[in-house]
Amino acid sequence: MIDPFGRAITYLRVSVTDRCDLRCVYCMAEDMSFLPKAELLTLEELDRLCGVFIRLGVRKLRLTGGEPLVRRGLMTLVQSLGARLGQGLDELTLTTNGTLLAKYATELAAAGIRRINVSLDTLDAGKFAEITRWGKIEKTLDGIFAAKAAGLAIKINTVALKGVNEDELDTLLAWCGTHGFDLCLIETMPLGEISGDRLEQYLPLSLVRARLKTRWTLDPTDYQTGGPARYVTVRETGRRLGFITPMTHNFCESCNRVRLTCTGMLYMCLGQDDQADLRRTLRAPGAGEAELADAIGEAILRKPRGHDFVIDRRRNRPALARHMSVTGG
Ligand code: 5AD
Ligand code: SF4
Repeated sequence: MIDPFGRAITYLRVSVTDRCDLRCVYCMAEDMSFLPKAELLTLEELDRLCGVFIRLGVRKLRLTGGEPLVRRGLMTLVQSLGARLGQGLDELTLTTNGTLLAKYATELAAAGIRRINVSLDTLDAGKFAEITRWGKIEKTLDGIFAAKAAGLAIKINTVALKGVNEDELDTLLAWCGTHGFDLCLIETMPLGEISGDRLEQYLPLSLVRARLKTRWTLDPTDYQTGGPARYVTVRETGRRLGFITPMTHNFCESCNRVRLTCTGMLYMCLGQDDQADLRRTLRAPGAGEAELADAIGEAILRKPRGHDFVIDRRRNRPALARHMSVTGG
């Protein structure tokens, strides 16, 4: 699948649920309303769609949410997708908040998952509770160490939040070094109503990077995961440090991904509203592989050059009404 700007689409992110057991302040409003369960694709439908994408050239799949592990029965999907590894699929990964990892880490590893991303914005229990609104840090930490014990490589995702965790990023970097985790810092993106002030949260990573450089040696590397992060190696820890900078640097020119939501909408860009309704095609009487492949192919031809996130300062409105939990970042 080649889009109009010559980019090969080889990476599919699948949001298996918009629900989450946490309510991170930069992600959701506390009284978030979720999709009615009847709207969701079944796990079999998700598997079938993923199969079509793989046949069309997708080599890397990431399960996200909301929180993917809260979707009932998810392990059956993980297993059937895992069985496609080596059959066109090169990598199956997961982005999780870690709360349920203690329960599922072994099964994930057994299904063929090798690397996971875990969201963790702070190591301070009080701040964790504040950021996630009702999370307990022990659960996430237990989950992370269970995943490590199960042999999964771990990348910690940390959203840099002005005045909240900016003084702690050093500590997080050192902690990741100690435990053998990579770390990826993310700028907040203006997605969805959150009942808070986005501008108050926004911390440019250019600033963070300059500060970290006063204490750590950041060596350039050409390591790439097929995601939007740009990496350096931290000489003192030997671990990688990534930066995802949608606001200060446009990462779109090398974009290789599209996003499928739990209701079967295909988004060609995280930062644009255009979508294709694959559920309709999937459920149309008599529709098969060929119709799905056509619908996907047609959608890829509409993939835009890039996003244009801006924070509407005057009205404090998000750039897009859709939350990150719909498309899974
Ligand atoms: N801006 C930036 N990152 C976000 N995440 C969720 N919402 C936002 C947002 N508005 C992060 C989560 C997770 C990753 C998938 O995206 O913390 O680590
Ligand atoms: Fe849940 Fe992740 Fe959103 Fe936090 S950032 S509320 S863990 S989906």
